[in-house]
Amino acid sequence: MTSYDLIIRGGTVATAADVMAADVAVKDGRIAAIGQGLSGADREIDAGGKLVLPGGVDTHAHIEQLSASGLMNADTFESATVSAAFGGTTTVVSFAAQHVGMSLSNVVAEYHGLAEKGAVIDYAFHMIVADATETVIKDELPRLVREGHSSIKVFMTYDRMKVDDQKLLDILITARETRAMVCVHAENHGMIAWLAQRLLDRGYTAPKYHAVSHPRSSEAEAFNRLIAMASLVDQPIMIYHVSTAEGVAVIRKARGEGLKVFGETCPQYLFLTAADLDKPGAEGAKWCFSPPARTTADQEAIWRGLELGDLQTVSSDHAPYRFDETGKLSAGPNPTFKQVANGMPGLETRMPLLFDAMVSKGRMNLQRFVDIMSTTPAKLYGLHPRKGSIAIGADADIAIWDPEKKVALNADIMHDGTGYSPYEGRTVTGWPVTVLSRGRTVVENGGLHVKAGSGEFLAREAGPAAEPTGNLSPEFDPQRNFGAQLY
Ligand code: URP
Ligand code: ZN
Ligand code: ZN
Repeated sequence: MTSYDLIIRGGTVATAADVMAADVAVKDGRIAAIGQGLSGADREIDAGGKLVLPGGVDTHAHIEQLSASGLMNADTFESATVSAAFGGTTTVVSFAAQHVGMSLSNVVAEYHGLAEKGAVIDYAFHMIVADATETVIKDELPRLVREGHSSIKVFMTYDRMKVDDQKLLDILITARETRAMVCVHAENHGMIAWLAQRLLDRGYTAPKYHAVSHPRSSEAEAFNRLIAMASLVDQPIMIYHVSTAEGVAVIRKARGEGLKVFGETCPQYLFLTAADLDKPGAEGAKWCFSPPARTTADQEAIWRGLELGDLQTVSSDHAPYRFDETGKLSAGPNPTFKQVANGMPGLETRMPLLFDAMVSKGRMNLQRFVDIMSTTPAKLYGLHPRKGSIAIGADADIAIWDPEKKVALNADIMHDGTGYSPYEGRTVTGWPVTVLSRGRTVVENGGLHVKAGSGEFLAREAGPAAEPTGNLSPEFDPQRNFGAQLY
């Protein structure tokens, strides 16, 4: 008599806490047993010599989204999530991106429709608020958070997306009241706009000047300003795509003071530098993303930030544009750096690049890899314990890795819509060979085995990470503000 649908036999199972030799049994899409000598399944996968890891949780990906300048990106939910799955990721949190003048509810409904049609793995949305009208603040945000969209994203830069300090405070306090995480693209807009214009005026237009136009101090300045605003209203924040040593230091200091400030970085800040933009003609446009890649010293500081826990996650910031007239070259064959859509593909390479650096090359151990790539992002965004671990009762989202497999990264093996790989020529050791989502085989033997639209929406209540500390700023503390009730 069979009691399980599937047993993954004889692998090395890793969680954020432990590594063990064990079989994993799956029933009705969930993990039903972890143990040795399990038996009684309809199907078995031999995982001898392989690692059995939780599927990756990528909490920062732009999919089927208009860029800051109104250009549609190169992926559908189908192509993006297929590419995520081939790279070992089984949950993606992408964006429902409001632009000025749009109803946030309509935007969220539209993204639901797109994902329902295309996604092959499970997904959720952060709501991008670009137009914090009274309706958005008082009506739409609280309702949408209650409906399971428990994270909000805001930009402090980009002409058409940025919110000013007052609007940002409106969003922060609404998030506190409704219990949602606030994620922020934090760079000083004025410094970037001013320096970019100065470069253009002097004829420095090539893609490599994109890196110069985002001064490193614009990151630390915006982080400090954002942290001051978040601590005024006691709202936890996630600072996205940390790129500089100074940025890591600002976050470390805030966390040392007991503030609930979380930090994310991305593979591009660990493996690329500004020198990657210095290519002949327009080719450097492939590496134009914001904030830009910096220096090897910044890479080291960011690794240290991950090691010490100042930064908790490594997301892809997948923002795909083709290197042609539909994407990076939409303004012509020789665009100025200001005319290039910002972003790069990354969903498929995030896990293999980090596995190679952390596990194969020994920078951190297997448990830390699982923690940073799966468990902690699931916890930060209210997806845990359903996602992010191998535990009884969790969804059977599992990536089986061949730790010895060497793969040369190049565009031909990628599944996203961009047609190029920013990591062309780099070889990694370790690759996810079989990927399961809720027990369904998504990827096996190099092929895709599920249909577009088979991914499910994950309604999320905010987890403990989004709970306020309760430490009131003097201005919000009735004991110290002459009794004013500001919450
Ligand atoms: O360059 C990037 N990262 N593009 C995507 C939008 C954003 O800044 O997050
Ligand atoms: Zn951003
Ligand atoms: Zn982004």
